[in-house]
Amino acid sequence: MKSKTEKIDPPNVSQPMEDEKRIIIRGGKPLNGQVRIGGAKNAVLKMMAAALLAKDTTILRNVPNLSDVHMMANVLRHLGAKVTISGSELSIDATNLTDWEAPYELVSQLRASFVVLGPLLARFREAKVSLPGGCAIGERKIDLHERGLKMLGAEVKIDHGYVTTSAKKLVGNRIYLDRPSNGATENIMLAAVAAEGTTIIENAAQDPEIVNLADCINAMGGRIEGAGTYQITIEGVPIESMHGAVVDTIPDRLEAGTFMLACMTTGGEILMESVNAHHLYSVISKLSDIGAEVSMYAPDMIRIKSRRDKLKATDITTLPYPAFPTDLQAPIMPVLCLAKGTSIITETIFENRFQHAAELRRMGADINVTSNAAIIKGVDKLMGAEVKSSDLRAAAALIIAGLGAEGVTEVTELKHLDRGYENLEEKFRFLGADIWRK
Ligand code: EPZ
Repeated sequence: MKSKTEKIDPPNVSQPMEDEKRIIIRGGKPLNGQVRIGGAKNAVLKMMAAALLAKDTTILRNVPNLSDVHMMANVLRHLGAKVTISGSELSIDATNLTDWEAPYELVSQLRASFVVLGPLLARFREAKVSLPGGCAIGERKIDLHERGLKMLGAEVKIDHGYVTTSAKKLVGNRIYLDRPSNGATENIMLAAVAAEGTTIIENAAQDPEIVNLADCINAMGGRIEGAGTYQITIEGVPIESMHGAVVDTIPDRLEAGTFMLACMTTGGEILMESVNAHHLYSVISKLSDIGAEVSMYAPDMIRIKSRRDKLKATDITTLPYPAFPTDLQAPIMPVLCLAKGTSIITETIFENRFQHAAELRRMGADINVTSNAAIIKGVDKLMGAEVKSSDLRAAAALIIAGLGAEGVTEVTELKHLDRGYENLEEKFRFLGADIWRK
């Protein structure tokens, strides 16, 4: 096996790229009915990387049909894995990997693929992965990934846009993260699985997707405890002992949040099935402050009822889980635009995540952005307009705004939306919205 650096063709994403299309919404229809929430994108992408740890086949279930999942599948195929997708089941046979390099052409399309660094290092003691670079929402550094792998005994070099890492052996260590980065927690966990001795990650990310990943690694023969808390302990096992597994993907809490927020700009009542309310406490608490009635209907069902004329302003600060997620900061903004009073949103995770504010202003919102805060004065109504999405969650925000606006909204740059939402407009249409793609 050798590492190659030649240029490769762009990934053959089996979903059509929707760049030239737009979503058209005739706003003002209340949402009513039942909707099923799909599997979590941010969990499944990392579990796909974990499958590289075993010379065997791993099967992931409840996998959403998203362009990000198809792109990650192409990264794994490039490394030599056989990946097949059948409905919501994904099979990854990583028995015969042929490469330990993930090139720029692939990684630049999907930042999450940087997480193959950890499992490749664990399996081959060598890996070369393109630096993902920044994106529309921020600089997105990788210093914590680098430091963590070095503390496990790996040499890490950054050269010509690539991170190259190698280790004669990996040895467990106590690693403190300056901030609870999801990606760094995941890459360190994935490498430390096969380190000699014990690794302890302090100030680890506590997100449910980290727990799903740890459960997946454990089902494959790893020994991880404490995922979901600030301290994760990984007892190294021989890499040869890792094996395939069948793992369920947790529900997507961000998709669930998106539906709840849409119900608040339109008014109505929806019942979401296949959700986990425990993952959404901070969100549900804020939505209740704003005026929605949210209740657990069954262990995996949430009911939300909301009236447009009852929305009240509130302040929100995004922080690492379990606090209010940065990924719902954009989607909640149109709700606050329609709430009585003045709200302040403070974004502490990403330095450039307010690009949707300018688009919402085009729809009549009164938003003033200063540094990392957005001051939102409630208005009586939003008005339909042509708006452009700048990232995945900004796209969701503009759709939520359009559903609650007067007149027609056209949302462009749908490639962002298709990264993280499966059949969003069909699901909204089923709930009574007047929305279609053209
Ligand atoms: C994950 O990104 C998610 N992506 C993001 O979701 C999410 O917004 C983010 O976590 C925060 O919750 C995936 O899971 C694929 P981080 P990740 O490492 O892992 C800084 C979406 O819309 N940092 O937790 O890249 C970093 O710059 C996407 O679904 C360092 O400074 O996020 C950021 O400011 C967008 N050094 C903060 O930490 C590092 O080495 C959080 O980043 C690593 C990160």
